[in-house]
Amino acid sequence: MIKLAARVASLSESVTLAIDAKAKAMKSQGIDVVNFGAGEPDFDTPAHIKEAAKKALDAGKTKYAPAAGLPELKAALAEKFQRDNGLSYKPSQISVNVGGKHSLFNAIMALVDRGDQVIIPAPYWVSYYEMVHAAEGTPVILPATADEDFKISPQALEAAITPRTVAVILNSPSNPTGSVYTAAELEALAEVIIKKDIVCISDELYEYLIYDNLAHVSIAGVRPGMLERTLVVNGFSKAYSMTGWRLGYCAGPQPLIDAINTLQSHSTSNATTFCQWAALEALKGSQEDVQKMKAAFDQRRKLLVEGLRGIPGVKCTMPAGAFYAFPDMSAFHGRKTPDGKVIGDSLQLAEYVLEDAKVGIVPGAAFGADAHQRFSYATSNENIEKGLGRLKESLAKLV
Ligand SMILES: Cc1ncc(COP(=O)(O)O)c(C=O)c1O
Repeated sequence: MIKLAARVASLSESVTLAIDAKAKAMKSQGIDVVNFGAGEPDFDTPAHIKEAAKKALDAGKTKYAPAAGLPELKAALAEKFQRDNGLSYKPSQISVNVGGKHSLFNAIMALVDRGDQVIIPAPYWVSYYEMVHAAEGTPVILPATADEDFKISPQALEAAITPRTVAVILNSPSNPTGSVYTAAELEALAEVIIKKDIVCISDELYEYLIYDNLAHVSIAGVRPGMLERTLVVNGFSKAYSMTGWRLGYCAGPQPLIDAINTLQSHSTSNATTFCQWAALEALKGSQEDVQKMKAAFDQRRKLLVEGLRGIPGVKCTMPAGAFYAFPDMSAFHGRKTPDGKVIGDSLQLAEYVLEDAKVGIVPGAAFGADAHQRFSYATSNENIEKGLGRLKESLAKLV
């Protein structure tokens, strides 16, 4: 028998991926599934970025690169941080990784010792929790409700910090809620983070997907003293529809970046070399496609949320960013399906909806919020309308 290490044996499979896989399997059997489960833009990578990758391949950019990333890309990222976020980093303070997920994994491995606590506001992106587990740390969940727009208060943060707390993970705009922290809210959280001398891991993957003329603010820049204790994590997946390219990056205090680079040099080495050349084009080339994608998401956001609000029993806040709606659908918990099964929780509700309506959604339990379901609007208007119609009919059958 194979004995697995405790650190992997205690990990759970991602529920988001499991339901998505079931929806995809049904689709491949020819079943007409409307899938709101996607965690990625439905647009192709912009053509000029793909061209740059082809050119890089033809030019022989097919060898190892420095583990921390191509100097050209790190210089462009330093410019990006200055231009978009007002943050001054030397290129040496930036590490290019194999997706934002990898940046986060590296960071947690570099920061967390056995038994260290990491504060994770809920609803949270599933992998934070499991990464802290994998590092043998203790995730400390700090819930925020829909009434609070899913945002934690400085008082709640302070109360959750103990002598074992090493870090808090913030995610604005948020997956799964779409919530966006304002500058004033971040400043108040930063005051606590500085006072309590902990690190902030700031996941800013959805930076460019913010609506209603709100601005993205990085917590690293809201107060003197924050830059020195924040790791900003970002990537190309969501901004440039480059999920399959696996390219993310992080920027932060030099000793932390050095540790991340050392760790990475013994695990993946550099992120794929020709992809990094394409990423350079993503940063430096036309941003027109980014704006087009954002405009499409904005319009779909309203279509989806208005439709959800029109279904009796569904309560939905308007997300300000990312491409997810996160309605409270707990009114259906405790109700019976036509064949007499009682819906006990968000997972059973998602399963019922997939089977009955052929609509794929992700149960809130996966994000630490069982009352909710996550709907991704990275899908066409036509699918949104079709899915909403079917959902309404299926939910009406629950008594
Ligand atoms: C909040 C959040 N952070 C990080 C990631 C990681 O993205 P990637 O590894 O594709 O860069 C995702 C992807 O779903 C996400 O939703």
